[in-house]
Amino acid sequence: MNNNKQKITILGIESSCDDTAAAVISDGKLLANIIARQDVHMKYGGVVPELASRAHQQNIIPVVSETLKKANVSLSEISAIAFTRGPGLLGSLLVGTSFSKAMSMSLDIPLIEVNHMQGHVLSNFIDGKESSPPFPFLCLTVSGGHTQIVLVEDYFKMKVIGETIDDAAGEAFDKVAKILGLPYPGGPLVDKHAQNGNPDKFKFPHPVIPELNFSFSGLKTSFLYFIRDHVKENPDFIAQNVDDICASIQKTIIDILLSKLKRASQETGIKNIAIAGGVSANSGLRKRLEEEEKTKHQWNIFIPKFEYCTDNAAMIAIVGYYKYLNQEFAGQDVTPLARYKY
Ligand code: KG4
Ligand code: ZN
Repeated sequence: MNNNKQKITILGIESSCDDTAAAVISDGKLLANIIARQDVHMKYGGVVPELASRAHQQNIIPVVSETLKKANVSLSEISAIAFTRGPGLLGSLLVGTSFSKAMSMSLDIPLIEVNHMQGHVLSNFIDGKESSPPFPFLCLTVSGGHTQIVLVEDYFKMKVIGETIDDAAGEAFDKVAKILGLPYPGGPLVDKHAQNGNPDKFKFPHPVIPELNFSFSGLKTSFLYFIRDHVKENPDFIAQNVDDICASIQKTIIDILLSKLKRASQETGIKNIAIAGGVSANSGLRKRLEEEEKTKHQWNIFIPKFEYCTDNAAMIAIVGYYKYLNQEFAGQDVTPLARYKY
């Protein structure tokens, strides 16, 4: 065994929702990143918390073993364990937290607690400094549970300057998909249909929300009525128009997100713009930023690789790496937090 502790090698563990994930980052370089997805929730149309924590219990040991094997890293080479403390489902977080505490105790190495949302923001740093945004930058963090505009002044100097007052953007995608009869999680399927549709075919109202905040619950309701009214007239309306419907609603969600992002950039004068979170995997959003908004506003755009957008442990390990450099460690008394603001 090569006991190479000169390197800073972080094992990251993510278990906040329905993905059990582990990753290894050594001296800032990603060596392995493995995710076990839980299909058990599909038939329920959403994540069932109790089933998620049971699946995490089954998955966590095989996922961590496979990750260490793929990274070619032995237990004695790990410098610290970084885990998601929150926000998320308490039962799911408990599995990752307890596992990480036990492993840190048995290996006698430090434990690092990570805020999942900070992980999403710092997913822009997984591939090294060359491809990462310079400080300060604005990060549009759009996931299944959150929609935030974050002013990032340094790795841990982050301030949420705008957020949703009700549903998250990912939730809006998932609810739209459900109304259309598409399986959970619907975001990627709406994206897929949208690629073949006309985004200007149907119009949906934009919410008027003060400052840099968002709202998506009104859009969901108007979408529900729109579908109900059209299906009443034509029972095949969804099947005949699914691509155009998806393209139009996706464009509306993107317009809502970008209008606040533009305002945030104007108000702060910051033109370094990053995105993160599950919805940042959306091809329409990525394309729009790269092909239109970038030149329109002279923005420098930073988009994480597709696999770093949805939940993963590489983003937890990268936060762990920077916290390790600051020697910011957690004690064995650390507990998971379903809500965790920073
Ligand atoms: O960040 P994430 O994996 O988990 C949370 O922390 O919530 O985000 C999951 C969300 C889901 O709502 C999913 O439908 C959405 O991200 N999502 C997408 C796409 N891929 C994932 N939404 C739109 N287009 C996509 N391609
Ligand atoms: Zn997430």
